[in-house]
Amino acid sequence: VHDELTTVIVFGADGNLARRKTFPALFNLMYKDHLADDAVIIGYARAPLSTTAFREMVYRSIYAPTVANQPRTHFLNQVTYEHGEFNEPASFAALREALEAREAQQLADWRVRAGIDADAPAVQQPSRVRLYYMAVPSFLYYGICLNLKDSGIATHKKVDRFVLEKPFGRDSTTCNELLAQLALVLSEDVSYRIDHYLGKELIMNLLVLRFANICFEAIWNHHHIASVQVIFKEKVGLDGRGGYFDQYGVIRDVMQNHLTQILALVTMEQPLSLSAGHILQEKIKVLSSVRPLARKDLVIGQYAGYLDEESISNKQSRTETFAVAVLHINNPRWAGVPFVLKAGKALNENRAEVRIRFKNVPGAIPELSACPENELIIRVQPNEGIYWKISNKVPGLHFEVAPMRMDLTYQSKYDQGELPEAYERLILHVLNADKSHFVHADELKLSWHIFSAVLHELEAAEDDRPVPYMRGTRGPALADELAQRYGMRKFGSQRFESNTAP
Ligand code: BG6
Repeated sequence: VHDELTTVIVFGADGNLARRKTFPALFNLMYKDHLADDAVIIGYARAPLSTTAFREMVYRSIYAPTVANQPRTHFLNQVTYEHGEFNEPASFAALREALEAREAQQLADWRVRAGIDADAPAVQQPSRVRLYYMAVPSFLYYGICLNLKDSGIATHKKVDRFVLEKPFGRDSTTCNELLAQLALVLSEDVSYRIDHYLGKELIMNLLVLRFANICFEAIWNHHHIASVQVIFKEKVGLDGRGGYFDQYGVIRDVMQNHLTQILALVTMEQPLSLSAGHILQEKIKVLSSVRPLARKDLVIGQYAGYLDEESISNKQSRTETFAVAVLHINNPRWAGVPFVLKAGKALNENRAEVRIRFKNVPGAIPELSACPENELIIRVQPNEGIYWKISNKVPGLHFEVAPMRMDLTYQSKYDQGELPEAYERLILHVLNADKSHFVHADELKLSWHIFSAVLHELEAAEDDRPVPYMRGTRGPALADELAQRYGMRKFGSQRFESNTAP
């Protein structure tokens, strides 16, 4: 399967992200034979750990009782650790030495397996891919990339691929500064900016759902759609990440990236093909039509107890842990449709979904005029699926109409067990040099443009404090009022985002 030699270097290898996401994803890829058994994997960070100690750490993050020991042991044997600074040439000279030694051994082993003499001409060498995974804060990217270049490790040719993690700045200005600085050492074509929501199964399905099914396209516009909600709810609060989170808040952490990317995929026009370039063209077009968020269209909240969290040092912090924003898209397809983005931590449930609420049947016959509007729900997690809420006659001799769920629940329709993790899938796309699910610099700038002004306004107005809400609730009631202002009704149940069906 693997006719390429692969190297993965993870910067920030002992950090939270690397441990929780990167190494488990790399392990799963190797376990499922999408990453070659002979891949060279190097963890790099500042902590002076031995490879043995580092392997123990990785072991803990990839351990699963359902997986046998052998593949884990094999994976760990492919992992070594180098420590050094992120902006010091000497550290990178040492990294280069270690890297080249490992790759030379990898090539020698490959030749043995392929039955090629050690002194055969280079033409018989397999191609090589090097993936540099930046699991570090973005202010370190420049130093790392500069040193990778200056040390001669990275040539920025086809061989190299750089995976960059958010946050990419705090607003338009800092994002632009970061992009301009990075552009000095890194070209766009080798940059893979991760938004892990783009690697989730149901998000990847959005373009198929919309453009492979004639039933959706005809009604996918303001004539038929009353509102669209993109919802991200989480039960956990800070989860030990207060140091980071308090600097950003939920708008920057989730809304500007994950929810805005989903919005773009739900609202863009049909791309010419599913290639990265064509998808990008359409995303850019629709994101350019989104009006910058206005303060009056935003409700922010902070859960009670946030300021008492150990990791929050600023006990006066006004950082929002909850936000509902109504966005407007100024184009012929979407004029007048409110797009409600909702993101919150320490809420009553874990749920991410897109809810598309349709309009009432115009001129409905009297017996059916009280039926609730149709709704199409794309459930990203948990219980992935797509379902309609429709009105249906209750079977029987009597005449009764009730809302019913017409659904495509993945668990019951697809027999394939656990869906792959978003990170697993995205790293595989990087290995295949497929950029269709990554964030281009131009989309990044546009998505910051939507939120920057309001974020500055919030920062400047010291008396503009987030509305408090209790942990484990739906967030501040003011958010429902905002949604109701845009015509979203409550239907019996507490939740404005759903009527009778769950
Ligand atoms: C991350 C945010 O990007 O996404 C976190 O920084 C959030 O704050 C997480 O919890 C949610 O991801 P998932 O995949 O668990 O829904």
